[in-house]
Amino acid sequence: MNIVIIAGSNRKAATSTRLSSYVGQLISQKGHSVKLFDLYETPLPFYSSEGTGHDHESVVRLQQAMREADGVVLASPEYHGSISGVLKNALDFLGQDHFRGKAVLSMSSAGGAVGTSSLTQLQAIVRNLHGINSPEWISIGGAQRSWLMDGLNGYEGAGQDLSDRIHRATVTFLDLAALVRNKN
Ligand SMILES: Cc1cc2nc3c(=O)[nH]c(=O)nc-3n(C[C@H](O)[C@H](O)[C@H](O)COP(=O)(O)O)c2cc1C
Repeated sequence: MNIVIIAGSNRKAATSTRLSSYVGQLISQKGHSVKLFDLYETPLPFYSSEGTGHDHESVVRLQQAMREADGVVLASPEYHGSISGVLKNALDFLGQDHFRGKAVLSMSSAGGAVGTSSLTQLQAIVRNLHGINSPEWISIGGAQRSWLMDGLNGYEGAGQDLSDRIHRATVTFLDLAALVRNKN
């Protein structure tokens, strides 16, 4: 399957981007093709419904990859109980043609223990884009962020628990993506 991951932080050393790479590696190891769009490395213009920016090279590339995707992973930092501005801006360039009938895994990184506000809002956006929310999401928060930056090594049982949780949610997403692909 073709899987697109959109890493929605505007920060070079972002933990949500590190999480995106980690999940991307898991998906690649299972034999799927992964395209990671890091919105820090590939900034998009501000969306305008008047059409400016729609022919920007990075926008066109994202839209093309999304059209070819069988499943989508969205990652955001938790900002003020919501998703980042850059991720929302990227999603505004996309529509139901890019998401309809496709499995979507939502992930977030929060300063607090969990980032469920951003994840709840991300899943509401996915529903409006006619994507299919995967039943499990991935939230990392607090100290888990530095564990992830260290590759989840050396944190005894806690690091293993987090790694198991990320693996389980990723497999659940891939199973759903395989189930619903070609049914559109
Ligand atoms: C503008 C701003 C707003 C934030 N709001 C929240 C918040 O509402 N809840 C929270 O737990 N952390 C909040 N944080 C902390 C970030 O969620 C945390 O640093 C996160 O790991 C950033 O993700 P990143 O490493 O992918 O950039 C906020 C940080 C910034 C810069």
